[in-house]
Amino acid sequence: MLKDKTILIGISAGIAAYKICELVRMYKRAGAKVRVMMTPNSLHLVTKLTLESLSQNEVFVENFDIKEYKPEHISLCDEADIMVLAPATANTISKIANGICDNLLTSTVCAFNKPIIIAPAMNTNMWNNKFVQENLQKLADNNYHICNPECGFLACGTEGVGRLCELDTIYNKTVEILNENKKLAGKKIVISAGGTVEKIDPVRYISNFSSGKMGVALADAAYQMGAEVTLVSTFEAKKPYKVTKLQSAIEMEKEISQYNNNVDCIIMAAAVADYRVKDYSEQKMKKTSDDEIEIKLVKNPDILKKISAESNTTKIVGFCAESENLLENAKIKIKNKGCDYLIANDISRKDIGFSSDENEVYILDNNCNIEHFEKDSKINIAHKILEKIFE
Ligand code: C5P
Repeated sequence: MLKDKTILIGISAGIAAYKICELVRMYKRAGAKVRVMMTPNSLHLVTKLTLESLSQNEVFVENFDIKEYKPEHISLCDEADIMVLAPATANTISKIANGICDNLLTSTVCAFNKPIIIAPAMNTNMWNNKFVQENLQKLADNNYHICNPECGFLACGTEGVGRLCELDTIYNKTVEILNENKKLAGKKIVISAGGTVEKIDPVRYISNFSSGKMGVALADAAYQMGAEVTLVSTFEAKKPYKVTKLQSAIEMEKEISQYNNNVDCIIMAAAVADYRVKDYSEQKMKKTSDDEIEIKLVKNPDILKKISAESNTTKIVGFCAESENLLENAKIKIKNKGCDYLIANDISRKDIGFSSDENEVYILDNNCNIEHFEKDSKINIAHKILEKIFE
């Protein structure tokens, strides 16, 4: 999605500056060209050389580093498709909100007429400062895209709001802004992800090896294509869209069912356990002298089958993870489940599927027409799946 795009990163002097090294790599990995400018104070926190090595480009700091025919703040503006200020300090936020141009970074922001993302990071008291909030509001009201800081452990040793948001959030925001394919704008999509957790007692559970990566890739892709996304997952995820965390198949059934016929599409990417423990033990089960114990399992509801039967207006998409006879099993499964599309992937292959960042899938519609998506990153496969479902 970021191939051939130029991203101009502005680093100001927050301790989170070190995290931006990884953000540069994320953009580079996605094929973007990265230019970096730093405020003079940020050089105390992370070196120019580090960012030059990672971005594979010269890093600019001073207003008068003029090398070419135009002053840098103008030539970098021309070149970049988007500017990302991260971390954005209280000082830099307040200066740019008031049109101050006292270094290369603030001058560039002043001259930049394309999208700007601001990811603030600072001490909680600074974050709560009335003037900082007023300045940030002013920027938000003027179409700057703000990635709000999160609550957590701060470098100053305290716990509170002010920690730089997840890099993933900044990355997703960038793709969402630059992605001209807003095919899913106005669509509501719910995606389940992860393996359900079926508790045995307060400390033990039955689950599976699903990493949830394909579900998250679908949710990211749908968000990047402009959809209103809800991710229903069995793990914690900080995302720029709604995430509901739960554990068991029963909880997932309740959560997912409420969206049926109220959203445009539900994608069941979660690996829902087929069985749950019959008698959950409120107390931790004790080891006994027996060499064997028995735990009785009862069948979980088949959420995909149920929502497919009850859906009138929502497109329902299921997944089929098979270790043998992939397409034969997939054809039987789509009939049995009654869903609109089924994504089949081969989990016997080590290079794709579980925990991998890549996948290779077949997509079947309810007439058993089959399309093959060759091995690719899960995010690219996710885009192709969504394109197909909403073609
Ligand atoms: O039957 P099987 O587990 O192979 O089907 C996989 C598909 O069905 C996935 O989309 C999964 O999310 C969904 N599923 C479900 N409820 C279950 C088991 C699987 O919705 N109890």
